[in-house]
Amino acid sequence: MRVTTILLSLVLFLADSQAKPFVHRATDHFHTVALKHSAGLARDIRTAFKGMLAEPPRKRVVVNGSSKPYCVSSKAAGSTIPTAQQNGTAHTSSASSSVPKATGTSTHGAPAPTATGSSNWKLAQSYSGNSFFNGWDFFTAADPTNGIVQFVDQNTAQSSNLTSITNDGNAIMRIDTTPQVSGNRAGIRITTQYTFNGGLVIMDSVHMPTGCGTWPAFWTNGPTWPVTGEIDIVEGVNNYTNNQATVHTNPGCNLPSSSASSLGISGSVVGGTNCAAVQTGNQGCGVRASQSNSFGAAFNSIGGGVYAMQWDNSGISVYFFPRSSIPSDITAGAPNPDNWGQPSASWPASSCNPFEFFQNHSAIFDTTLCGDWASGVWASTGVPGQDQSCAQRTGVATCEDFVRNNGGSFTEAYWEVKSVNIYQPA
Ligand SMILES: *[C@@H]1O[C@H](CO)[C@@H](O)[C@H](O)[C@H]1NC(C)=O
Ligand SMILES: *[C@@H]1O[C@H](CO)[C@@H](O)[C@H](O)[C@H]1NC(C)=O
Ligand SMILES: *[C@@H]1O[C@H](CO)[C@@H](O)[C@H](O)[C@H]1NC(C)=O
Ligand SMILES: *[C@@H]1O[C@H](CO)[C@@H](O)[C@H](O)[C@H]1NC(C)=O
Ligand SMILES: *[C@@H]1O[C@H](CO)[C@@H](O)[C@H](O)[C@H]1NC(C)=O
Repeated sequence: MRVTTILLSLVLFLADSQAKPFVHRATDHFHTVALKHSAGLARDIRTAFKGMLAEPPRKRVVVNGSSKPYCVSSKAAGSTIPTAQQNGTAHTSSASSSVPKATGTSTHGAPAPTATGSSNWKLAQSYSGNSFFNGWDFFTAADPTNGIVQFVDQNTAQSSNLTSITNDGNAIMRIDTTPQVSGNRAGIRITTQYTFNGGLVIMDSVHMPTGCGTWPAFWTNGPTWPVTGEIDIVEGVNNYTNNQATVHTNPGCNLPSSSASSLGISGSVVGGTNCAAVQTGNQGCGVRASQSNSFGAAFNSIGGGVYAMQWDNSGISVYFFPRSSIPSDITAGAPNPDNWGQPSASWPASSCNPFEFFQNHSAIFDTTLCGDWASGVWASTGVPGQDQSCAQRTGVATCEDFVRNNGGSFTEAYWEVKSVNIYQPA
């Protein structure tokens, strides 16, 4: 299972007093996915150190090319880890040439209704109402990101009421709130059976998991990590209030600039411009939303909103719309991104071919607890929503102790999703 070794970086040593559990784990081998979250930690720590670290931390990453697929997990469920020969440097295509049309492959029934109105997109797959959970695989392996969560199968999820449908027809995915557990808390991670190449993913949620110890995400990825890419649409930890969208790829995919105005985005680039997982310690290229109601408790307090991820010849863009300003074309089922204004985050095709670095994606929801990111920044401050650390807020020294002994704190750790609609070019 061990496919990578992380040699400790300077920043992790500096972080020692702030993130002991993480640093301890980092002295071991741990898997590729963890790299992602070490990256999140590094970013947080840079913030916490208030710019002391001008340069991104140097990390050396050794990919064990002879290893077999590693955790069927990762944030890349079902993925295989590339061998060193598959590191993507052979793919030096220019992004603009010969970009194939987006296509989707349905692996289950549910023909899509016809969208009304004028749109360049037609609905290809829809998850909502009483049948929301049809067409998803329930992931039950150990959490690849080292969270203390036990993902349960669909029957267990239903019988233990970790999944349910509200009277309004919204899908609930909860965390077990048993007051005390000795090991892991039960939770949910689901992956669409439907796969797609290009598309417009629109996720409408009225509530997302929040609170110290939580690490929810909604993202897409393909079968071979990071060769087929990962697009994190919604992600953050603990009490964060601003979403972070990130892509992780093979070498060759970059942001053309770290300037928000050059990129034409409302968010801010929080790391470097190289999106390659193995070249950046899986920092990838992340963008923090400017809206302080784009994540967590603040998102929930406004009744949530809509996240959209557009993946087409222009590149990849992520949009967030608070409940009160969801474009009417989305509500009407005839989405027209040209009318949406600036995206929150964008990775233009000019420096990252969207059909080379991203292939055969599924959409995924999960909520994990602690793990590399939420635990790693337990005692850190400085990120919007975490002006006070979770160690201070809870008075508990470690994320794991807090999560295991305070089940009542996870009543807000649930997704309530109205719909996930995946569109393809009309
Ligand atoms: C690399 O993988 C091989 C085969 O799985 C294994 O024998 C070896 O110990 C691994 N090396 C490292 C450094 O993990
Ligand atoms: C990446 O691929 C190139 C060409 O196949 C090879 O020369 C290089 O050593 C590889 N790099 C790594 C880190 O595997
Ligand atoms: C199941 O969960 C839902 C949503 O969290 C809640 O409203 C309902 O009361 C729960 N039902 C039972 C039997 O616990
Ligand atoms: C932060 O997290 C704590 C612990 O889960 C919770 O009690 C509190 O309400 C959260 N605060 C905000 C502003 O989200
Ligand atoms: C994508 O899916 C198609 C159809 O199943 C398959 O032929 C192709 O090899 C897949 N590509 C990758 C990179 O997994």
